[in-house]
Amino acid sequence: MSDVVKIGIVGGGLMGREIAAAIRRWPALIDHPSRPVLTAVCDINPDALEWFRQIETVQTLTTDADELFASDIDVVYIAVRHDLHEGLYTRALHAGKDLLAEKPFGIDQGAAERVIAEADRAGAFVRVSSEMPFFPGAQAVIDYARSGAAGRLISVRSGFLHSSDLDAAKPINWKRQAQYCGEVGVMNDLGMHAWHVPLRLGWTPRRLTAQLSDLVATRPGPGGEPVRVDTWENAAFHADAGPAEAGFPLDVRVERVAPGEKNTWYLDVVGMSGGARFSTALPKTVDYFAIADVPGLGREQTWQRVQVGSQSVWPTVTGGIFESGFSDAILQMWAAFLAERAGQLGDRFGCATPEEALTVHRLAAAAAQSEREGIRVDFSS
Ligand SMILES: NC(=O)c1ccc[n+]([C@@H]2O[C@H](COP(=O)([O-])OP(=O)(O)OC[C@H]3O[C@@H](n4cnc5c(N)ncnc54)[C@H](O)[C@@H]3O)[C@@H](O)[C@H]2O)c1
Repeated sequence: MSDVVKIGIVGGGLMGREIAAAIRRWPALIDHPSRPVLTAVCDINPDALEWFRQIETVQTLTTDADELFASDIDVVYIAVRHDLHEGLYTRALHAGKDLLAEKPFGIDQGAAERVIAEADRAGAFVRVSSEMPFFPGAQAVIDYARSGAAGRLISVRSGFLHSSDLDAAKPINWKRQAQYCGEVGVMNDLGMHAWHVPLRLGWTPRRLTAQLSDLVATRPGPGGEPVRVDTWENAAFHADAGPAEAGFPLDVRVERVAPGEKNTWYLDVVGMSGGARFSTALPKTVDYFAIADVPGLGREQTWQRVQVGSQSVWPTVTGGIFESGFSDAILQMWAAFLAERAGQLGDRFGCATPEEALTVHRLAAAAAQSEREGIRVDFSS
């Protein structure tokens, strides 16, 4: 019998609705220890709350987050602007709730440190949203990397690419303004996604350089007037990772202007004995490197394509041959979050931790320093 976990959502925008929908798909998971029930939703915009009326388990719809925190929910998911993270996260933790926080987990390093201090004080279970590694193909590359089959690593590439900012006529919004998104711009927006797996696999850089791109100067404001875009659009990290005696280049990219890339997360791990690579642009396939005997050609180096099917971290009723997508990755991330909270994740891949999110903030600050001073930054301490 699984335990009921009462969930509250703060921020009923893009991600708040996505999570509400994922919770409704919970019966797809097989033998999960928890059964989440969405009971409370908060948004300062009353119109945003209307959508949640169709979910009959919701008892509280409020514009006051403290009313939600005072209700008998067990876990809160908070998806709001980055400048609001610290205040809402710490209030939720102070009220005794467990938390699945949205990235970047505070607007900067200081905010992340203060939220972690409050979580430690409260003894709360806290994880940070980063769903892309829960694609089955991503899990396949992670498993391959962990197996050691690649041998001595030659290079690792990880990234998250968007393209809609190529359109300079796209109106300004909070994600393009430093006061709401954070000074490091795209690194706050997409950095957790691109760094989650390298950090989890122990590939924290020893030193790094970065190139940050300021590609769009202004965007139309509400009345069509030009409003300054004061956040970086693209960031390229070039890092040394791995042990000093067997180091390798780690290339991490987060880009809002990557022409043609709608929401592309990728991970490539290549070594002297093999390699594996996955991109959500081709979500059902993983490419593996091998040396093969090809009739008529002889012994050749090949990249071979495998179709991975639907299964990821937690088993589902979905047929093994079926395809997986973004909403499935969100469901798998929540399955991992609530299983770990229940002490039953085992050795399965878990959600990003607050410490990993803090490291992403430190990496962004190091990248900004590298760009500003034109130097390679020591990240070993
Ligand atoms: N994990 C992912 O793939 C992913 C994708 C997109 C966004 N995000 C993150 O999710 C968070 C929210 O992004 P979004 O795209 O859903 O934003 P959004 O703008 O679509 O929604 C934010 C909502 O928060 C509400 N809000 C603002 N202030 C509030 C307050 N004080 N109390 C309650 N509600 C408040 C707004 O009215 C809005 O409805 C950000 O941290 C963002 O980086 C994550």
